Amino acid sequence: MSKVIIVANLKSNIDENEAKNWLETFKKITELQLDLAQKEIIICPSFTQLFSFLSYFSSNNIMVKLGAQNISPYEEGAYTGEINAKQIKDFASFVLIGHSERRQNFNETEDMLIKKVAVALKYGVSPIFLVQGQEALVPQGVQIVAYEPVAAIGTGTPDTPENADAVAAVIKAKNNVQVLYGGSVTADNVKSFTAKANLDGVIVGGASLEAEELLKIIQNA
Ligand code: PGA
Repeated sequence: MSKVIIVANLKSNIDENEAKNWLETFKKITELQLDLAQKEIIICPSFTQLFSFLSYFSSNNIMVKLGAQNISPYEEGAYTGEINAKQIKDFASFVLIGHSERRQNFNETEDMLIKKVAVALKYGVSPIFLVQGQEALVPQGVQIVAYEPVAAIGTGTPDTPENADAVAAVIKAKNNVQVLYGGSVTADNVKSFTAKANLDGVIVGGASLEAEELLKIIQNA
């Protein structure tokens, strides 16, 4: 059986002080009786926090992985303000690509997303490719897809586990990938998703901002 994947997408929220508190609370993960052979935990903080999260996790022996929330579609060069794959690979093993918030607010097109996936793969950073429906295109080389219906994001109204499972089945029939569900996942509902045959894990936004709640989600998943 493959591991249940739990991705925490902290989005654009916490400052340095809040990050410090978050990490101190999250450290309790080392006291939980978790079988990490069964669970793959991927934390995605802001770029400015990747280094401190990486240092904290390694110095406290916390066996989780890091993901970036975005990546430049370009390689290194004269692209002021961009963070490229060569830079990200030193901190993160994963990167979120195709989130609806980026498609909508930053006009990310399918072409741009394909470029982002290609540069991530070139530098050994695994893309977690987010789609909003079963018909979405999944670029070549992607191994993890996250299905996040826009109406479920941050609304407290998740998709039904049955529908998410059915969508995941369609995505899997077309692509050789693992599929996660995202959208208003909480400690109370996480198991209803991870128990489904076609769902390999979850991606958690709002609820992951409270480290205690994220720990419960990880336990219950
Ligand atoms: P949410 O966000 O858990 O706050 O709904 C999920 C996401 O956007 O990844």
